[in-house]
Amino acid sequence: MTTWITICDTCKRDGWDTSGAETTDGERLAALIESEPRTGVRTRRVSCLMGCTHGCNVAVQAAGKLCYTLGRFEPDAVSAAAIADYAALHAASDNGQVPFRQWPVGVKGHFVTRHPPLPSEPE
Ligand code: FES
Repeated sequence: MTTWITICDTCKRDGWDTSGAETTDGERLAALIESEPRTGVRTRRVSCLMGCTHGCNVAVQAAGKLCYTLGRFEPDAVSAAAIADYAALHAASDNGQVPFRQWPVGVKGHFVTRHPPLPSEPE
């Protein structure tokens, strides 16, 4: 089952306004994650995940699995690789729960929320 990394492309970290950057921090992180393909993982961009005060933000989601939002990322290659590696572990897991001992160092301390899968509805 595919795990999706949903990347906020409008996140701006403190100091962005005066940095002179032509792209947002979220756009930079999105491009870096998109350049880190992993088996079972796809990416998409959205504008705002409502975590603007603690960007950069991403969500890691798959149908029927535990889903997570993660934030406070620098828009750099180390963060992008850690997010992609974590998403690949999420894709390979049965229920979205990746054992802590397997977490890439770069995602530790970045988890913001966890969302249990929706219950299946009777037809
Ligand atoms: S701008 Fe990224 S969460 Fe709002």
